Amino acid sequence: ANSPLQDKLGRPLQDLRISVTDRCNFRCTYCMPKEIFGKDFQFMPKEHLLSFEEIERLASIFVELGVKKIRLTGGEPLLRRNLPDLIKKLVAIDGLEDIGLTTNGFLLEKMAGQLKEAGLKRVNVSLDALDDNLFKSINDSGVGIDRILKSMKKAQEVGLEVKVNMVVKKGMNDNEVVPMAKYFKEQGIALRYIEFMDVGQHNGWNFDKVITKKELFDQLSNEFELEPMDPAYVGEVAKRYRYKGTNTEVGFITSVSESFCSTCTRARVAADGKFYTCLFAAGGFDLKEVLRSGASDEEVKAAIVPTWKKRSDRYSDERTEETAKNRKKIEMSYIGG
Ligand code: GTP
Ligand code: 5AD
Ligand code: SF4
Ligand code: SF4
Repeated sequence: ANSPLQDKLGRPLQDLRISVTDRCNFRCTYCMPKEIFGKDFQFMPKEHLLSFEEIERLASIFVELGVKKIRLTGGEPLLRRNLPDLIKKLVAIDGLEDIGLTTNGFLLEKMAGQLKEAGLKRVNVSLDALDDNLFKSINDSGVGIDRILKSMKKAQEVGLEVKVNMVVKKGMNDNEVVPMAKYFKEQGIALRYIEFMDVGQHNGWNFDKVITKKELFDQLSNEFELEPMDPAYVGEVAKRYRYKGTNTEVGFITSVSESFCSTCTRARVAADGKFYTCLFAAGGFDLKEVLRSGASDEEVKAAIVPTWKKRSDRYSDERTEETAKNRKKIEMSYIGG
């Protein structure tokens, strides 16, 4: 193929995170608080969403530019109608090595079979607590823990690999750190702790609410013996460990305490076709416009390539209380994490 496309800091374009909807059926207090994302909140109008044909075309073009891995996100991606049809299209793209899906699990029990049939191999399920009342208070939508655990079970039964993502926020769910580890160790499911980040404008972030990897690791070390594992791929966001004597992993996504911008190979496309070079970008490049103007593949590439070449984002390396408060940032539910 061509020589790899690199940004200003020498980082190749290798992963693409595609958000398929900005809507979610949860209202997690740290992500889509009801005061902001209430009945009157204006989500994207339907005609602004990229169609599956448009997503497939963009995905193929990105793969030609070096992308090896695609992740579908939201909002909640399983709310997008007929999502398995999109997965079928993506699976058929030559040169694409991996497709993942990040979901809250609410609709997963119902959809696991179809997703697997469409060719999906793995899902990352977000789950911040095992305590039923606490989980309900976090998702603020009355959804109990049983539904999500059943979904995971179903996903495993149909042959999907399952990982769990837990955002840890001080005062919210720090008591759940050890119980989550115990439970998922028992289940043989990989659990990844995510340091709470200052995404969006509304999540009330400050450094005091972050529980760092070091603190998490110390807590876990009182209960388990952990041994480090090698990264599964270059630029993997999670730092991985294994419970000694098992094959079960536990990971830490340290975007605050040990940022990983220097190896960040990720691009993001929002559901409306805006192309972002960082989770914390203030603005994006409108690829929908380009697609709908009747551009050829070469012309679409000619829009992507310079944007990547001039990329110098390293927000998490630069984060301070000041940037967290005052920089304009897009919402997690819009860009898909
Ligand atoms: P795997 O392919 O299974 O390794 O998944 P992943 O960790 O790449 O994706 P997932 O959607 O499960 O992400 C887990 C968490 O990592 C989410 O909170 C993401 O927002 C965060 N994350 C992923 N990529 C980045 C990144 O480039 N920068 C920052 N700051 N956080 C990221
Ligand atoms: N900090 C860290 N992770 C977050 N997520 C949503 N908001 C934040 C935040 N402020 C997580 C979701 C999901 C993943 C895609 O991102 O819980 O697991
Ligand atoms: Fe919660 Fe994820 Fe929905 Fe945000 S997108 S409200 S974190 S389920
Ligand atoms: Fe990549 Fe931006 Fe995250 Fe750094 S902050 S790892 S550049 S997405």
